[in-house]
Amino acid sequence: MLFAKTASCRFLPTTRGFEATLGTVTVHLALNPGKLAMAFMSAKNQFVFVPAMLLLVTGCIQLTLAWTDLTPDRPVATPAVLGSFEGAGEVTSITSWREERVPQLRDAFQAHVYGYLPDFSSASVIDRRVVADRFLDGRAVLEELTIEALAQFGDAPPAKATFRLLLATPSKQPGPLPVILMETFCRNHTTIPHPDVSRPATGGGCDGDGVINMAMTYIFGRYIATPPLEEMVDRGFALATFYPGDYVPDNSGAGIAALKQLSAGHQDDATRWGAIAAWGWGFSRVIDVLEMDNRFDPNGMVLYGHSRYGKSALLSAAFDGRVDGVISHQSGAGGGSLSRNKAGETVGAITSSYPHWFSTQYAEYSERESDLPVDQHQLLAMIAPRPVLLGNARRDVWSDPEGSFMAALGADPAYELLGAGGLAQLTLKDFLPSAELVFHIRPGTHGVTEDDWPAFFEFLEAHFGRQQFTATSDQTP
Ligand code: GCU
Repeated sequence: MLFAKTASCRFLPTTRGFEATLGTVTVHLALNPGKLAMAFMSAKNQFVFVPAMLLLVTGCIQLTLAWTDLTPDRPVATPAVLGSFEGAGEVTSITSWREERVPQLRDAFQAHVYGYLPDFSSASVIDRRVVADRFLDGRAVLEELTIEALAQFGDAPPAKATFRLLLATPSKQPGPLPVILMETFCRNHTTIPHPDVSRPATGGGCDGDGVINMAMTYIFGRYIATPPLEEMVDRGFALATFYPGDYVPDNSGAGIAALKQLSAGHQDDATRWGAIAAWGWGFSRVIDVLEMDNRFDPNGMVLYGHSRYGKSALLSAAFDGRVDGVISHQSGAGGGSLSRNKAGETVGAITSSYPHWFSTQYAEYSERESDLPVDQHQLLAMIAPRPVLLGNARRDVWSDPEGSFMAALGADPAYELLGAGGLAQLTLKDFLPSAELVFHIRPGTHGVTEDDWPAFFEFLEAHFGRQQFTATSDQTP
């Protein structure tokens, strides 16, 4: 059993617990501080708890033979990104890519995968306060903004989504500054643990007097909740971070209810937007706000998301030309990995575990991925020519790094067409951060570790650093 082919760990915000899978055994642990203590103290519970903990730890500390092949031998991504598509002929010019193919792909991804985004959206700041004007020893200012976003579908009146944004702005760097826009698993006061950040009246994903946060950090790496803030600020990047569960909770009950309430004007239930689309839409609403603020460079809007939020970041970039770059880390199924010919998570697995993430139409492709009109390389291609980093880990086979490399290869012709170079590396290991399509892989498993951010910074410096950064016009895909 220890040498099973697959092992994975995942955090389940719904129950605030962890689930460890090793081979065919899946164990669930509710890491609520009360229950954890009881499990330790009760002799009866130890029979369940100890093996469960062992599974959790072995699942997460990689006692598995599951490895990603560094020179994958997988079929190329289909349909060819510039080939004929749903009745339209091959793309042979930049104009037909931009004016015909990209809109066609946007419609196909909404109709078959993510559900439809609003017809009209806007955002405004309804409250703003300085949390700390000498944050990080005076290197930054920390502000908290309350954003009210409007989503309008069809003729229905616009629906409101409200969420809080934390904004850490370097104080010693000349502007306008590039911004890293980040979505997180934890609420803001956990992401930036300053005592004056607002705390919600009711708990959230990573509350529990730090116990859950500590467990998450142990299992999913040092940077799972909080990125290296000081280094970010010292390099001249502002950080705009929010918890999208504020407006679409990450669970199938409250999540689906919020999605329906926000999209009341959308008539077709099968193509109603899922949480990945709604969270991706949140990134765009933050850009609405940041673009009005002259401290920030409108050509330096870089999205960062891990795993489910890596999926949202890619979607947002594919649909919003104001996004200038993306770091999508271990985004896997429904993100940067192909749906066809894949290892790890399938359409059936993701849509049954997370029925609120995608449209219900997407679930129809369970076990028949080859019938999907689109695959994820086409989503990456919609972001061309803007830079994208796809972060991976060798033992994170659940997110299928090989499928992600094949997706980047499949997207490459769109980058080439737009004169952007695309994927420059030949294997998964030849990390080339200054290319437009960048694939990074490190040892280890699912999470955000000390090995990830140095690579992210190389990519950020190469494309948005103060040296390289010059104001150019927005690149519409
Ligand atoms: C689960 C899910 C993945 C997702 C991940 C995460 O493992 O199956 O699709 O990317 O959670 O968001 O951490």
